Amino acid sequence: MQCSWKSVVLLALASIAIQYTAIRTFSTKPLSLLCSVGLAPMGSNVNCSLKDLTHLGQQTHEHSDRGCDDILSHTSSSPALSLPSYNASRRTHILILATTRSGSSFVGQLFNQHPEVFYLFEPLYHVQLALLPRLAQSRNLAERRVMLGAARDLLRSLYHCHLNSLESYIRPRPANHSTDKLFRRGASQSLCSPPVCDTPLGREEQSLLLTDEGECVRRCGPLNVSLAADACRAKRHAAIKTVRIPQISDLRALIEDPRLNLKVVQLVRDPRGILASRIETFRDTYRLWRLWRATGRRPHNLDLGQINTVCEDFLKSVSTGLSRPAWLRGKYMLLRYEDLARFPLQKTKELYSFLGLVLDHNVEDWIINNTRGSSDLSSRQKFTTVRDSAANAENWRVKLSFDMVVYTQSVCQPLLELLGYKTVLHPRELRNLSHSLVEDRTFLPYF
Ligand SMILES: *[C@@H]1O[C@H](CO)[C@@H](O)[C@H](O)[C@H]1NC(C)=O
Ligand SMILES: *[C@@H]1O[C@H](CO)[C@@H](O)[C@H](O)[C@H]1NC(C)=O
Ligand SMILES: *[C@@H]1O[C@H](CO)[C@@H](O)[C@H](O)[C@H]1NC(C)=O
Ligand SMILES: *[C@@H]1O[C@H](CO)[C@@H](O)[C@H](O)[C@H]1NC(C)=O
Ligand SMILES: *[C@@H]1O[C@H](CO)[C@@H](O)[C@H](O)[C@H]1NC(C)=O
Ligand SMILES: *[C@@H]1O[C@H](CO)[C@@H](O)[C@H](O)[C@H]1NC(C)=O
Repeated sequence: MQCSWKSVVLLALASIAIQYTAIRTFSTKPLSLLCSVGLAPMGSNVNCSLKDLTHLGQQTHEHSDRGCDDILSHTSSSPALSLPSYNASRRTHILILATTRSGSSFVGQLFNQHPEVFYLFEPLYHVQLALLPRLAQSRNLAERRVMLGAARDLLRSLYHCHLNSLESYIRPRPANHSTDKLFRRGASQSLCSPPVCDTPLGREEQSLLLTDEGECVRRCGPLNVSLAADACRAKRHAAIKTVRIPQISDLRALIEDPRLNLKVVQLVRDPRGILASRIETFRDTYRLWRLWRATGRRPHNLDLGQINTVCEDFLKSVSTGLSRPAWLRGKYMLLRYEDLARFPLQKTKELYSFLGLVLDHNVEDWIINNTRGSSDLSSRQKFTTVRDSAANAENWRVKLSFDMVVYTQSVCQPLLELLGYKTVLHPRELRNLSHSLVEDRTFLPYF
């Protein structure tokens, strides 16, 4: 981000303003917030612990840099973080913490198909696009922090159904709370059905809207954000899928917020499977990997960071989760994509039982319809969830060269062990699909 020192000063001032607004609207935890912005009056009864102060360092840093042009508009029109009007303690908020090509669309559908869940597909896409336009996945620490601060704020607002807070990140900026630029709107059933999309359609056409994303966008017209917020409030629960939060610890502030009742499903997948799938999907970014596969020689300028980052983030996050810290009690479930692919119904039941939600027959029907046999759609649609999931989960073994597998294993060794993915030492072992490389492991949530 190219900000001059002047804008940096402006941003710092603006950030104080934002925090101040936040304080005035937060009624439950004023003390720690005062501490966190350093505004607690001296000599008052306020006790700012060391923890609060460390927190402060990060918080101000995160907030102080939302993007040069965005911040001023944000201070004036920032949707206040106010208390929701309904009984929030009954509402469960679900976050699917995933990475690209780990099967997250599939898991998202397990909530999208539930009639009582308001589901959003990748809303943080807009944050990333607005703040880091040219970086797919920034490894720059400062930029990452900025992104995460904004992402957390937005997630909190979205769970409280303040969908208009998303508008400040959408380009072009929506006028009259109406936009046709919401990323993958068609992936959310709630945004394609009444009252948000009230088209005079027959039953059959209506169901087409829900199965074909493009059809939803074509038929429903621009999204009325106010109506979408109403729809969100009308549902009992809300679920958001994201591939833009690297680690569980990045969510700690949200998880510890008692008003949010947030539960996180961390979806993981064998990094060798992720790699193979990304090579197919993101052809430009992973061009050199394809070259390696085609020529059998590793290009000297190959970007190894891509797979490093996946394994590092998974390793840190999963280690945190499996160490069972108190702040994650009852809030964290680890799910291997491979297990879901092999036992979709059973794993979905476990998932719903962890969340304390009643599994709906729509979800079960959807699973039955979409996990056996392949569909003619699957070859054409990049992000489709319609495919033979079980066969798909290990098909990386015929798509990666042995060298690529060995390299990935060397980078990801500790993670593979932690998650129970077997390493292969010989090409014969790699290609022999009659023995699985996924060890039987049970990762139970703890309460
Ligand atoms: C302030 O916090 C410290 C450390 O947690 C504690 O020892 C002290 O008793 C607290 N003081 C007040 C006034 O709460
Ligand atoms: C909200 O719902 C919970 C669980 O049903 C209940 O214990 C609590 O008293 C309710 N709170 C309010 C403010 O209605
Ligand atoms: C927004 O609404 C106002 C009043 O209804 C209208 O005059 C204006 O043209 C609308 N703007 C856009 C961009 O649609
Ligand atoms: C969106 O819906 C609200 C509530 O029904 C309505 O008042 C408003 O005019 C709608 N906005 C647009 C741009 O259609
Ligand atoms: C499952 O497939 C059947 C038959 O094609 C269809 O009628 C039904 O609507 C589908 N259900 C879901 C939830 O996709
Ligand atoms: C493939 O693996 C199975 C089970 O481990 C083994 O019995 C079989 O001999 C292997 N096939 C080849 C061609 O190595």
